[in-house]
Amino acid sequence: MAKKKNTHAAQDWNYSASPESTSHIQLKEKYELFIGGKFVKPSSGKYYKTINPANEQVLAEVAYGNEKDIDSAVKAARKAYNEVWSKMPGKERAKYIYRIARLMQEQSRELAVIESLNSGKTIRESRDIDIPLACNHFFYYAGWADKLEYAYPNRKIEPLGVAGQIIPWNFPVLMAAWKIAPALAAGNTVVLKPAETTPLTALKLAEIIQQSGLPDGVVNIVTGFGDTGAAIVNHNDVNKIAFTGSTNVGKIIQKAIAGTSKKCTLELGGKSANIILEDAPIDQAVEGIINGIFFNQGHVCCAGSRLYVQESVADKVVAKLKHRMSTLIVGDPMDKNTDIGAINSKEQLATIEKYIKIGINEGAEMHQVDCSVPKNGFYCKPTIFTNVAQSSKIAQEEIFGPVLTIQTFRTVDEVIQKANNSPYGLAAGVWTDKGSRIFNLTSKLDAGVIWANTYNKFDPTSPFGGFKESGFGREGGLHGLGGYLKLS
Ligand code: NAI
Ligand code: MG
Repeated sequence: MAKKKNTHAAQDWNYSASPESTSHIQLKEKYELFIGGKFVKPSSGKYYKTINPANEQVLAEVAYGNEKDIDSAVKAARKAYNEVWSKMPGKERAKYIYRIARLMQEQSRELAVIESLNSGKTIRESRDIDIPLACNHFFYYAGWADKLEYAYPNRKIEPLGVAGQIIPWNFPVLMAAWKIAPALAAGNTVVLKPAETTPLTALKLAEIIQQSGLPDGVVNIVTGFGDTGAAIVNHNDVNKIAFTGSTNVGKIIQKAIAGTSKKCTLELGGKSANIILEDAPIDQAVEGIINGIFFNQGHVCCAGSRLYVQESVADKVVAKLKHRMSTLIVGDPMDKNTDIGAINSKEQLATIEKYIKIGINEGAEMHQVDCSVPKNGFYCKPTIFTNVAQSSKIAQEEIFGPVLTIQTFRTVDEVIQKANNSPYGLAAGVWTDKGSRIFNLTSKLDAGVIWANTYNKFDPTSPFGGFKESGFGREGGLHGLGGYLKLS
């Protein structure tokens, strides 16, 4: 055991601190609601504090929008839809969407820093993944705005009207882009509510939208809590609800809009299987396991949180995985070397810790990286469980943190059964040397997205979405446009 420390790469190489500077961003003390192209005070006069989960310091005060504010936002969106946006030719709409993409690119460093400060995700991730992907979504959908008749030949194509969009905290600005870009390209106007813990990049995006000259009211951004979201869902002049978040709230939304003409897409939770066959390239697979579960602290709806390893290679995979985990750098999200940043909120950390306790009580064997984490802020050490029963809670329920369950299997049929034995059906990963095995597995797994010999790869041209309790509808690609159009 004494030797263990010598294999710790972080100690061998002794990385120096490499903090990203925050001097180039200017946060306001107080943020208002973005309605009708202007920043306006919330009708209740209420604000709440938004913090940096990496150190619990207050970053700014943010308006708490209520039903009245949502009503103003929907009215602004309806007016913009009727008077401007629905009449504007696609090629003119495209120019605005392109302009938003270009302005986001120009201000990408600010966006990345604000995203990491407010969400706890590492600067490396927000800089290299979230912000570029968010820009790409605007670029990609700008390209579709004047080509809808080619996307749907011989069909009558109409926008839906006002889209109400409610997004979560795990990919704050990327989810805003996933929602806003296709809605605008299809000719709809938008009322968007960011998650309560991560409003700041959506508000920065509101500033960018203002700079782009987008007609007033085409995009409205109303910050607040669950009741603010519910006011969007229940507003009778909203034509479409697009939601990403928990399965529980997805169910509430479905009940609320049953019997109305509102269209809906729900992007909910997951418990995705990452499957390693014995002929897989093991070292790459281990990287894929790490990326699958520890990317974004495991706050990923499609996280590869259930690992299935073929029995003949299980010991080898687990040994290599533990070694690789020992090299992960956990801590300050603003340090460019950090692999795993802060958990998004105190509440989410409590949820994760609750599941870790359940796993231990259920008799699974826990292994946690032996590292130190900052004293203030919310952190969770990378954790894996072996000896996990298929029926155990930690293998069935979404934990939404850096916690992996590991099970073994002998035959391909067995792993298909185990992987599909879940209320969710969002994503899966398959690692093998043989194309025929990939085709066999991908055709039998109940998952909306399946990666082969890779994991957590996203692209605006590729549709994303799930089955079963993971929701319905697709975002991204041509499919993502369809959710914002009436086709007849
Ligand atoms: P949540 O589903 O409550 O929050 C997501 C968004 O919905 C937020 O903007 C929130 O303000 C809004 N919201 C909450 N209640 C609402 C209501 N009744 N009507 C309309 N909008 C409402 O998720 P929460 O509580 O932050 O996280 C709980 C669990 O949900 C997590 O532990 C995780 O398992 C899962 N989750 C999954 C996500 C995904 O990407 N699929 C994202 C966030 C959470
Ligand atoms: Mg909630």
